Amino acid sequence: MTPYIADADAWQESWDRQQEAYLPDREHRFTAMLDAVDAVRETASPRLLDLAGGTGTISLRALRRFPDAEVTLVDLDPALLALATASLGDRATIVSADLSRPDWPTALPHRRYDAVLTATALHWLPAERLSTLYTEIRDLLRPGGLFVNADHMPDDDLPELTKRLLARAAQHRTARHAAGATLSWAQWWDQAAQDPTLRPLVEQRHAIYPSGHSPEWTPPASWHLTALKDAGFTEVGTLWRGAADAAVVAVL
Ligand SMILES: C[S@@+](CC[C@H](N)C(=O)[O-])C[C@H]1O[C@@H](n2cnc3c(N)ncnc32)[C@H](O)[C@@H]1O
Repeated sequence: MTPYIADADAWQESWDRQQEAYLPDREHRFTAMLDAVDAVRETASPRLLDLAGGTGTISLRALRRFPDAEVTLVDLDPALLALATASLGDRATIVSADLSRPDWPTALPHRRYDAVLTATALHWLPAERLSTLYTEIRDLLRPGGLFVNADHMPDDDLPELTKRLLARAAQHRTARHAAGATLSWAQWWDQAAQDPTLRPLVEQRHAIYPSGHSPEWTPPASWHLTALKDAGFTEVGTLWRGAADAAVVAVL
């Protein structure tokens, strides 16, 4: 049973600050993703899948924008899923499933979605698995539905500038961490491990993700665009870009 987390709002806030230190334009990116959903939705209650949704970042913003949306969130991390459950309550269906396994769609409450959205997550998967996942996502979309993957995706036409942009961003981030303006990824998890309710879930997480983080396979956006075309999407392109991050969109 998911434990009750009384101070979920505070954990959401510190998660957002922690993630923003890595991607200052994070909210602009979410707005662009939800604008795309708005453009293709056919009803006031679009069916949305928040893939590797963590604490519910996309789901919470989607429900603010489309209060009648039918939202499903999938993730594998017990601590983040508990925070998502505490914040979303019965406004979303929360599913624990492993995206590295091809049977993950069987855990979903629906067979068809209007949009599948994911952010800062699929770089946790290896290349061959991600290509297959793109076809599995295609199979979950209605005709005209869309998929957006926002992640670390450098522009391979700008290798030198990208290096400089990343170095500049790292300097700012280091300064913010040093000044205590926000927690780093490792500090956030240390803090969660000190919370009596989250501690057992963080311990379970260590068993699921023994290294604590992803292998950081971050191919350029062009790799994703090719893989999405190969997966059979009809329209594929870049919806948003900020330095070495981008959101690629694929319409069925
Ligand atoms: C950095 S978090 C991003 C969460 C959220 N999308 C956000 O932007 O705040 C990456 C998420 O990917 C999830 N994830 C990584 N590998 C996964 C897998 N194989 N199956 C399900 N979720 C996975 C992690 O548990 C984590 O919640």
